[in-house]
Amino acid sequence: MGVINFINHDGKQHVVELEVGKSLMQIAMDNGVSGIDADCGGACACGTCHIVVDTKWINAAGSVMDDELQMLEMTPEKKPTSRLSCQIKASESMDGMIVHVPEFQM
Ligand code: FES
Repeated sequence: MGVINFINHDGKQHVVELEVGKSLMQIAMDNGVSGIDADCGGACACGTCHIVVDTKWINAAGSVMDDELQMLEMTPEKKPTSRLSCQIKASESMDGMIVHVPEFQM
């Protein structure tokens, strides 16, 4: 058991239970984290589950596949550690991970 820290653009922090095997998007939605729309339900087709992983945690988030990368290229607020939260599967090595939720989804 561990936690994931979602931080909204206004500094509001949501510390939620890390549920191994679920996507970070699903964990956020299940715990009422605001700012993630997830319009396509996790199919890597909408880009509205954009998050920015804290630089210390980017390796724990795993690698980015081509379809995720293409979707991120269309994201106006893209940062070097941007990811789609539906494409990150929670694992025990993510205990304590910090992710930032941008002000707007596309
Ligand atoms: S929920 Fe649509 S791309 Fe992640």
